[in-house]
Amino acid sequence: MDNRPMAQAASVNVPQPIRSDGAGATDFGPRDVMRDIENPDMLVPPVTDAGLIPNLKFSFSDAHMQLNHGGWSREVTARELPIATTLAGVNMRLTPGGVRELHWHQQAEWAYMLLGRARITSVDQEGRNFIADVGPGDLWYFPAGLPHSIQGLEEGCEFLLVFDDGNFSDLNTLSISDWFAHTPKDVLSANFGVPESAFSHIPSEQVYIFQDNIPGSLESQTVQSPYGTIPQSFKHQLFAQTPIKTPGGSVRIVDSSNFPISKTIAAALVELEPGAMRELHWHPNNDEWQYYLTGQGRMTVFAGNGTARTFDYRAGDVGYVPFANGHYIQNTGNQTLWFLEMFKSDRFVDISLNQWMALTPRDLVRDNLHVGPELLDALRKEKWPVVKYPTA
Ligand code: CO
Ligand code: CO
Repeated sequence: MDNRPMAQAASVNVPQPIRSDGAGATDFGPRDVMRDIENPDMLVPPVTDAGLIPNLKFSFSDAHMQLNHGGWSREVTARELPIATTLAGVNMRLTPGGVRELHWHQQAEWAYMLLGRARITSVDQEGRNFIADVGPGDLWYFPAGLPHSIQGLEEGCEFLLVFDDGNFSDLNTLSISDWFAHTPKDVLSANFGVPESAFSHIPSEQVYIFQDNIPGSLESQTVQSPYGTIPQSFKHQLFAQTPIKTPGGSVRIVDSSNFPISKTIAAALVELEPGAMRELHWHPNNDEWQYYLTGQGRMTVFAGNGTARTFDYRAGDVGYVPFANGHYIQNTGNQTLWFLEMFKSDRFVDISLNQWMALTPRDLVRDNLHVGPELLDALRKEKWPVVKYPTA
């Protein structure tokens, strides 16, 4: 019997790395056909792609799963996606009553609630506290260094955390259980003014996530601080905002102009209908970290000097665009594509290719690109972040 691994037979359903002009050749394997089907623009790049742009995609499905009683987490950091140095993301689930324990870190924490509800708590340097419930589409922001916690309510929850440092790991934070475990008991006794026996059952290591009872109502958990509550809310209801609506979808922008505490992270939540696209643009402030929420799309990143690379994305993927690189995102599926664009910045800013051309002398644009009135007449002085034209 022949035990050698056998090449796969070509099948009509299996995509092949062959372009319509005949360039390329069949691939009989070994190969991961499911991945090739998910990444048609990797298997057969557009002819306009060229050069050596580094990887700009990582799926949370390829990340390590941290499983605990009470929930799970997985993260996409610069360890997984080396180019992503500005921001890191964590996808976390908490069961009903599940707790991300009391902890703090050197980085600011921005979050988007995907589904379910949670109770968040924090205390600032003035002794003021913040306790609030967050639901789907709500954001929170904990400034760097401030202690906080997250607990799933009746229905549990799942959310995205974003930190303003690509090398941050949520598994490597400063946590209350870890500190207790690594402080001599006589010191704990002296600090709190109680006998050492009060600490005989403390956890021996970092807890991270644990299962607790579902907390009572917000009112029942109120703690009155003599210094009052934190004046600048750590919570923001993104869907209470009026979106920018254009043919093809919508955009909701949130940064320190409408969520004042969010000093280091700016974001846009983009909705693209089938057939619509996020217009050709770039950002003059920082790299873009993307999280795909629903649907599927594709993006080509143009890095100058004749280089461009196209990637396909779907729900659960992280995308990245280096500072000032040109890009667009097309909805390539038949359902609505929702994604988040995020920046390590206090403001969301972008430059529209269309608007730039519309506000530049017409003769200059014409002679630079050798284009006629058909295009020049169609240029728009207003910015349309999302577009969908009947001719597209
Ligand atoms: Co945190
Ligand atoms: Co962008």
